[in-house]
Amino acid sequence: MIKESIVKDPSLAPEGQQKIEWAAQHSPVLNKIARNQLADGSLTGRKVAVTVHLEAKTAYLAVLLHEAGAEVTVTGSNPLSTQDSVCAALAERGIRVYATHDPSDEDFERYIHLALETEPDLLLDDGAELTGRLAQSHPELIDKVVGATETTTTGILKLRAMSDEGVLPFPVLGINEARMKHLFDNRYGTGHSSIVSLLANTNLFLSGQRVVVMGFGWVSRGLAKYAAGFGARVIVCEPDPVKLLEAHSEGYEVMNSIEAAEAGDFFLTGTGNMKVLRREHFERMKDGAVLANAGHYDHEFDLATLKEMSVSEREARKHITEYEMPNGRRIHVIARGRLLNSGAGDGHPVEIMDLTFALHALGIHYLASRASDFEPGIQALPEDLDQEVARIKLRTMGVEPEELTDEQMAYQTSWRS
Ligand SMILES: NC(=O)c1ccc[n+]([C@@H]2O[C@H](COP(=O)([O-])OP(=O)(O)OC[C@H]3O[C@@H](n4cnc5c(N)ncnc54)[C@H](O)[C@@H]3O)[C@@H](O)[C@H]2O)c1
Repeated sequence: MIKESIVKDPSLAPEGQQKIEWAAQHSPVLNKIARNQLADGSLTGRKVAVTVHLEAKTAYLAVLLHEAGAEVTVTGSNPLSTQDSVCAALAERGIRVYATHDPSDEDFERYIHLALETEPDLLLDDGAELTGRLAQSHPELIDKVVGATETTTTGILKLRAMSDEGVLPFPVLGINEARMKHLFDNRYGTGHSSIVSLLANTNLFLSGQRVVVMGFGWVSRGLAKYAAGFGARVIVCEPDPVKLLEAHSEGYEVMNSIEAAEAGDFFLTGTGNMKVLRREHFERMKDGAVLANAGHYDHEFDLATLKEMSVSEREARKHITEYEMPNGRRIHVIARGRLLNSGAGDGHPVEIMDLTFALHALGIHYLASRASDFEPGIQALPEDLDQEVARIKLRTMGVEPEELTDEQMAYQTSWRS
């Protein structure tokens, strides 16, 4: 039997409705797609399970899928990013919710399993939280799923591994691989919202400070860009020699992470890897160093070792844990090493999530009617859908892209001229 919604406090619904309304007002691309594509009836009666950071932007996407006729169930993809007011508002609108802010590990698991037990035929996933657990714990339900969309880099890596092992029997559209996703959400969205969250949570001044950015992928490029925008002196550490040289050419200092550990005032990780900052870094950090993570999971810092090395631990400020070392040095960790921008802030700017969720909405809509167009495994979102999102966004700005003349098109495809 399908369980009723689980939310922390239904009386928070008015605050959540306000937040969703704000997201709706600033999501012109999604609104257009809701009117043009989602309204064609192909989502009527479809069961969609959604696991993404459960705040207002995600909630608005869930509302649009629900209004398009889908039976939607939502759950959180990260314990700290779930907002109880938004969950209450969704439940009030008749959308099934299994999520509370900062649940126990057992409850976090239970909520995702409850979402899967609704027997969805479409999954809208983040970090492969739904797909991974479906394959491991609910093999009897896997054949009901016709397809999924996946949001993030870490999820894509997990799904590739599942596909290689032959345990991914349906197509997953890799939303992260669309240009309209990683160029905007990973880079500008994460960079912007992480630095905003760092400043809001610490109330410290970045200008002239040395900010060490671990990685120079899409997310870490954004972190470096916005930290530099606030006047920080950015240091980049990255194993790929080409990317490290790119960082140097952008004007950032580049060095290895051991040297950077001594130099940095702030440390930002965004690699998707584990133990990126560990004992040999903690041993060298200055008193007052601030550590924050923008990568998907909370294992980019080796927190267990930091705890072991420290003589005491206390909450120095909301969302900030202070670890004191035997020699009196203090190291500060934001949001327990979970996502800085969503775990200790409101997540990406609305306009950025308008683009990411436009891709998801088009992906889910496409899968609802044409999943059989795709082989099982990770598949690219059709290029015309990626471009469609960019075109709609440009139109909302009153801009049309350059049109090539017939002569120019012929020139580009011929070798004789
Ligand atoms: N906070 C958010 O809202 C948000 C948004 C998008 C993606 N993400 C997550 O951020 C992470 C990074 O995503 P991405 O799209 O930038 O991936 P990416 O593959 O483009 O970049 C990762 C970079 O980290 C580097 N790296 C790996 N190990 C390292 C180490 N030990 N030290 C320094 N650098 C190292 C890699 O060489 C690579 O250049 C993923 O976990 C992704 O899921 C978070």
